[in-house]
Amino acid sequence: MKEIFERRSIRKYKNQEVEAEKIKKLLEAAVAAPSAGNEQPWHFIVIKDKKRLNQLAEIHPYAKMLKEAPLAIAVCADLNKQKYDGFWVQDCSAATQNILLEAVSLDLGAVWIGCHPAEDREKAISEYLEAPENVKTLSLISVGYPAEEKGKVDRLSDEIIHQEKW
Ligand SMILES: Cc1cc2nc3c(=O)[nH]c(=O)nc-3n(C[C@H](O)[C@H](O)[C@H](O)COP(=O)(O)O)c2cc1C
Repeated sequence: MKEIFERRSIRKYKNQEVEAEKIKKLLEAAVAAPSAGNEQPWHFIVIKDKKRLNQLAEIHPYAKMLKEAPLAIAVCADLNKQKYDGFWVQDCSAATQNILLEAVSLDLGAVWIGCHPAEDREKAISEYLEAPENVKTLSLISVGYPAEEKGKVDRLSDEIIHQEKW
C-alpha cells in the first residue's frame, strides 16, 4: 500500500521512454479496477508520438507537462457499454487512479489531467483522438520517469471526520 502514500502529481520527466512492458502493466492495473455491474466501459488510447503529445498540450488548458512527457494514456468510456447510466465516470476514475498507483510501483511519475465533465475540453480532446460519437474521455494521464521529487502529504484532519452523523 505504500504507493498510495507515495503518489504525487509528477509533471516533470526525464528524456527517457517508458518501456512497452511497463505500459502493459499500467493497462493491466487499469482494468483491475472495479466497475458498476462489472460494465467495464473503458478504452485506453496510448499516445507516444511527440507531435500528438504537443498537440494535446495545446488543446487542453492545463496539460503543458505533455510537452515533455514520453507517454500519455487517455482513459475513455464507450457509453454504449453502460449498464447503469452515468456510472462510467466512477469506473474510469477508478481505472485512472489504478494507473497512477501502478506508475509509482514501476518508478514512474504521472498526473491525472481531467477532461470530462469540462464539456468543451472533453469534446476537443475526444475529437482530436478521433474517438467515435459514443465515446467520452474522462482523463488523460501524463506519464514518464520523474525529474522532480515531491514529499508525502498528510491531509487527514479532525475537521473532515464525522462519527455516526455529520
Ligand atoms: C479529477 C482531477 C483532475 C485533474 N486535472 C488536472 C489537470 O488538468 N492538470 C494538472 O496539472 N493536474 C490535474 N490534476 C492533479 C491535481 O492538481 C492534483 O492531484 C492535486 O493538486 C493534488 O496533488 P497531488 O496529486 O500531488 O497529491 C487533477 C486531479 C484530479 C483528481
